[in-house]
Amino acid sequence: MKICCGKTFKACRKTLCVNNGTISTSEQKLELEKILFNHICSTLSELDMEILQSVPSGGNWKDIPEATIAKSARLTQIKNSGGRTTYYGRLDGNLPSYTVNTYFNRPGNGSFIHPMQDRLISQREAARLQSFPDSYRFLGSFSSRFKQIGNAVPPLLARAVSDRIRKKGLSVDVFCGAGGLSEGLQATGHRIVLASDFNAHMCETYRYNHPHTLTKQLDLSSIEGIIELIHIIETELHGRTLNLLAGGPPCQGFSTAGKWNHTDSRNSLVFKMIELIHTLQPENVILENVPGIRWMQHGRVLESLLDSFEKEGYRTRAFLLHAEEYGVPQRRKRVFILANRNNEVIEKPDSCFARIVSRKTRESAQPEENGLSHPISVFEAISDLPKISSGGGSDVMDYNSSWTTSDYQCFMRGMIPFEELVKRRKANKVD
Ligand SMILES: C[S@@+](CC[C@H](N)C(=O)[O-])C[C@H]1O[C@@H](n2cnc3c(N)ncnc32)[C@H](O)[C@@H]1O
Repeated sequence: MKICCGKTFKACRKTLCVNNGTISTSEQKLELEKILFNHICSTLSELDMEILQSVPSGGNWKDIPEATIAKSARLTQIKNSGGRTTYYGRLDGNLPSYTVNTYFNRPGNGSFIHPMQDRLISQREAARLQSFPDSYRFLGSFSSRFKQIGNAVPPLLARAVSDRIRKKGLSVDVFCGAGGLSEGLQATGHRIVLASDFNAHMCETYRYNHPHTLTKQLDLSSIEGIIELIHIIETELHGRTLNLLAGGPPCQGFSTAGKWNHTDSRNSLVFKMIELIHTLQPENVILENVPGIRWMQHGRVLESLLDSFEKEGYRTRAFLLHAEEYGVPQRRKRVFILANRNNEVIEKPDSCFARIVSRKTRESAQPEENGLSHPISVFEAISDLPKISSGGGSDVMDYNSSWTTSDYQCFMRGMIPFEELVKRRKANKVD
C-alpha cells in the first residue's frame, strides 16, 4: 500500500489528501479518488423484497397490493391506522430525499428504497444525502453506522450555521456523534480542540476523520463525566478563552414540568450544555436539536433553555432551518440555538437553494419558486455510485472516479469546493 502524507492510503482521512493545507501529488489524489467507503446496504427478507418491488419511484405503502399487505403485520397495522406516507417509501430521484433517520436499514420507517434499484440505500448513499464527503469514512459496527449517519447534523447545514460564528479561538463539540456538526465547523475555519461522546463507535469514527482533535469517550449524564470533561477542556485551553461550545445533545428523557433544577436527575442532557456554559463561559454557543424541542412540555423546555442562556449573560436566537436550503439533498428540519456573550446581532444563515413546499399532499412537493436555484436532488447526489444488489456492496470498494453526472458529485469527491457548486448552480440555473 502506498504512503500518503505519512499514513497509508487506507488510514488517510481525506479523498483530497491534505497535508498542511496543500493537496499532495496529483498521482496520490487520483489513487484516493478511486476508493469508495461504506457503499454497503442491508439484507432484506423475501417479504420485504416483494414489498419494495411493488413501490414505484416517489411511492409508498399505499402502492402495495392488498395481498402483500395481508402478509405483513406491520403493513396491516400501518394500513389500519393510516400511517405516514413516507413509510415504505421509494425515493423520488428528482427531489431531495425525505429525512434520513437511523432506520434506513429497513424499509418500513421512512423513505429509504433506492429510486432505481430494488434495495435500500447504502450507508454511503445515506452519507451523501447527509452531505458527508466521500472521504468521510464511518467505522464501528455495521449496525452502529446507521445511527452515526442518521443522527448526524448534515455537514452543509452545520457549515451554514458555523459561518455565523466568529472564528477567533478554539472550539469544543460535545455529544459529537460521528462528527457532522464538527465537519461543518471545520469547513468554515473553526478549530476544534476536543470532541466527546459516550458511544465508542461514534468516537472511533470521529477520531478517524478528525485526527487533530482530541476525542474523549465520556458519559455526560454523570457528574464525574462532566467534571472530567471540564478538566480536559481547561487543560487543552491553557488559560485561553473558549470561543465556541457546540453540541447536539439527545433530548429524550426530559420528564419534569416547569423550570430547570440542576439537582433534578430527570433533567434532559440538553441542560448539561447549560452546566458546561456556566463553568466554561464560552464566547459563543451552538446548540442543535430536533424540531420537536419547540413543543416539548408545551414550549416550556425551549423557554427554560433560553431563560438559562439569558441568566448566564448570553444573547440568543433560535432558528428552524431546512437542510435543502443549504445544499443538502434532503428534507430535514433542525432547530439551532445560537448564543454569544458579546451582544452581537445573530443573523439567520442565508439560504442558497429553494425550499421544498407541499401544497396539499406530500406527493405534490415542489421547490418554492423564489428565484433561488432548485435544491440538490437524489439523482444528483447518488446516481454515479456503483450498482449493488440488496444486501450487497462493500465497506471498501474500487471506484470509477472518471464518471460523474453532477456538480454535487464532484463536490462529494472533493474535486470542487462548495462555493463552486453554488456558483455553477446559479450560472446554470438548474430549475
Ligand atoms: C444527535 S447525536 C449528535 C450528532 C452529532 N452532533 C453529529 O453531527 O454527528 C447525539 C449524540 O449524543 C450521544 N450521547 C447520548 N447520551 C450521551 C451521554 N449520556 N453522554 C455523552 N454522549 C451521549 C449519542 O451517542 C449521540 O452520538
